[in-house]
Amino acid sequence: MADQRIVDGAAESDEQALERTLRPRRLAEYVGQQRIKDNLAVFIEAARGRAEPLDHTLLYGPPGLGKTTLAHVIAREMDAPIRVTSGPSIEKAGDLAAILTSLQDGEVLFVDEIHRLGRALEDGALDLVIGNGPGARTVRLDLPRFTLVGATTRFGLLSPPLRDRFGIVHRLDYYAESDLLRIARRSASILGVAVDEGGAQEIARRSRGTPRITNRLLRRVRDFMQVEGAERITAEGSAAALERLEVDRFGLDELDRKILLTIADKFDGGPVGLATLSAAVGEDSGTIEEIYEPYLMQVGFLDRTPRGRRVTRLAYEHLERPGRGILF
Ligand SMILES: Nc1ncnc2c1ncn2[C@@H]1O[C@H](COP(=O)(O)OP(=O)(O)OP(=O)(O)O)[C@@H](O)[C@H]1O
Ligand SMILES: [Mg+2]
Repeated sequence: MADQRIVDGAAESDEQALERTLRPRRLAEYVGQQRIKDNLAVFIEAARGRAEPLDHTLLYGPPGLGKTTLAHVIAREMDAPIRVTSGPSIEKAGDLAAILTSLQDGEVLFVDEIHRLGRALEDGALDLVIGNGPGARTVRLDLPRFTLVGATTRFGLLSPPLRDRFGIVHRLDYYAESDLLRIARRSASILGVAVDEGGAQEIARRSRGTPRITNRLLRRVRDFMQVEGAERITAEGSAAALERLEVDRFGLDELDRKILLTIADKFDGGPVGLATLSAAVGEDSGTIEEIYEPYLMQVGFLDRTPRGRRVTRLAYEHLERPGRGILF
């Protein structure tokens, strides 16, 4: 897709096969997210010690941070088979029942985009309504023991009853630059790309805290180096390539910039309420709040105040807009 932004955290359509080859398989290979890994290691060891499946686990956070990867890692560490499905593909309760009743004992059921799953699951059993109108009856199905691993970018859209099904809930955070640097090096070695320390650093810095973007930028920079006949990716080489790809120093994407510029220009720097901002940029308020704002706050470009969102002086500098002297 030529018009897709290169720093979009979501996967491009042709990226999925390649992602699988770069995906860490074990907890020990999974870079960063240390607190989550430490906790999971304990829960997994304990469950295995009791010969029980792991508790239902919910993983949430912005796109490209490793939720799907972690779901597969969990299954592998549990030595359990994994079945993969997604919220939108389970339309009817019967679809879910068909999957659940066919699971093997101890299997991991990975449900991606679980916020789009309309029904609530019950532990160990599933209530199914058969027929409709006065003749409808409810049948309770007993299920094999299994681990539901749910992933979502939109925690806020999960119904409270569904949320309550999960004994383990983890929010994945943007990665530190040092973690992305390790990911860049690891991916380069898997792909057989020669990259020096400075080159990997430049890529890590512009990856918007997101491993998927690190891997994508690595491949794009490799293309430039190859065409130029360079032997390895250097700091200068990758900086030049990334400039040409219009990836800025902070890896902001189009909507990131639009949010900042709208607050700066239309609302005089803020504060502006979320609903007003959402109408002005033409994006769903939940998406702004759960996917865009966390990164903008992390890099220090946006403040959430009780009266609304404000852009920071740093953002003005980055956007090359003269700031409002009075405010700052
Ligand atoms: N902790 C990690 N260590 C190394 N590589 C990682 C890590 N997390 C993710 N990656 C890389 O980033 C890619 C994207 O990760 P993944 O598909 O798991 O993200 P996701 O959170 O499921 O995204 P989405 O919300 O779009 O489904 C993976 O293919 C993997 O190569
Ligand atoms: Mg995923």
